[in-house]
Amino acid sequence: MTTNNFGISGSEGFLRHLSGEHQAIDHELKAVEGTFERTDPAHSTVEFSKLLATRMNRLKEVLRKHFCEEEGIGCLEEAVARRPRLSHQATLLGQEHGELMADLNRLIEAVEHEPEDDEKLIELKKTFDHFVEMVKLYESNESLLVRRGLNAVLEDV
Ligand SMILES: [Fe+2]
Repeated sequence: MTTNNFGISGSEGFLRHLSGEHQAIDHELKAVEGTFERTDPAHSTVEFSKLLATRMNRLKEVLRKHFCEEEGIGCLEEAVARRPRLSHQATLLGQEHGELMADLNRLIEAVEHEPEDDEKLIELKKTFDHFVEMVKLYESNESLLVRRGLNAVLEDV
């Protein structure tokens, strides 16, 4: 276990950064959810769809930046550098980036091209709810992996 001051403050810095990243993603997820909640699907409008698409594109940008950073020199790389046996799990987590982006792109495509069908809108909300669950699961797995790598949790992995 790392006990020197540099190691402890370094780990805290990485964890704080990761937590900030997740908060930024969660903020955008909530903005999309809020947009769904503020509009009655029975009275959906072209303006509503445009707003939804704008919010989803903002979420996409935040996610894209987060994934890019991680695929470069990010928290995961640091975690694996300190605990190489986490490498496989980190690779699996990285593969989820493409899947999540593809899911979000499909959602944006649907919002932009099927704007006024109420049933589609309800279906879209369900799909988005599932997407939110997947992102939260991804964040939770990532946090756990990084904490393990940085020795922030005391367990044998
Ligand atoms: Fe991540």
